[in-house]
Amino acid sequence: MKPKVLVTREVFDETLEYLAQYCEVESNQPDAPLSPQRLAERLKDKDGAVCALTDRIDEQLLAGCPGLKAVCNIAVGYNNIDVAACTARGVMVTNTPGVLDDATADLAWALILSTARRITEAEAYLRNGEWKGWYLKQLLGVNVHRATLGIIGMGRIGQAIARRAAGFEMRVLYHNRRRVAPEIEQRLNATYVSKEELLERSDFVVLQVPYSAETHHLIGAAELKKMKRSAILVNSTRGGVVDDAALIEALANGTIRAAGLDVFENEPRFNPEFLKLKNVVLVPHIGSSTEATRRAMAMTAAKNLVAALTTGDPPNLVNPEVRKR
Ligand code: DGY
Repeated sequence: MKPKVLVTREVFDETLEYLAQYCEVESNQPDAPLSPQRLAERLKDKDGAVCALTDRIDEQLLAGCPGLKAVCNIAVGYNNIDVAACTARGVMVTNTPGVLDDATADLAWALILSTARRITEAEAYLRNGEWKGWYLKQLLGVNVHRATLGIIGMGRIGQAIARRAAGFEMRVLYHNRRRVAPEIEQRLNATYVSKEELLERSDFVVLQVPYSAETHHLIGAAELKKMKRSAILVNSTRGGVVDDAALIEALANGTIRAAGLDVFENEPRFNPEFLKLKNVVLVPHIGSSTEATRRAMAMTAAKNLVAALTTGDPPNLVNPEVRKR
């Protein structure tokens, strides 16, 4: 008998076709959001799930799904999943590292460039019919080339962001829980500094740390004050890493120059005060959203799930303790 699996959100046809070779698949192609209750109902008789960061997988849900063996997130981040609770119940958790590094780094760069050169503000000015001619001081931006880029979180995506800085002849500073290997520092021409030094020296501060209790409000009022008044903050990692209320105040008061945000606290709801500010570029969590990348993410999650259910040893296992049992 094939294992029963639930795919909680819309995926590409090839993902479902692949899963159907090995599993009895229940899907949600209409993409009707599943409330926690609905998710619990649909998951209670399943062996596994391909899920998304919009699904909260916690102890309460797990308690009602005794047959569940694996939850496979279509994301590299997995802060929607209570990994400790999964581990306690022997449920494998997987993510999709690697396949989205470049797309996410590209988006961080899109935010760097669009904030520095005021692209969305300039476009609105043109679309609103305000463009009356050329002026020397029109929509003045700041240079990206030869500026100092500070990256907090130097994992795979942080490194992909740093690689792209070479083309702009930037100085690259980074801060990370652990210093990366000297050959990586050399290849990226990146200098390890304390978080404080990075905040004080960088023209662009880009956040690329996973969200956790330790990184909650990693950037708040005190950190924003340490940044240059001319500096720009980019958050393309997770909402909650930045204290959004403090950031709004800093942007409104000119504590920093601008911000580019792909993620928000409590998204998809976000603080409406952001909409009043011209010096912020706002996009709706599209960091990994290129067609090729999203196809690869969905397929990686599906392959993780099939491997989990057929071999008990899936790639990208976040809680390897479960495998050892
Ligand atoms: C991730 O992979 O964690 C992304 O945020 C999903 O878009």
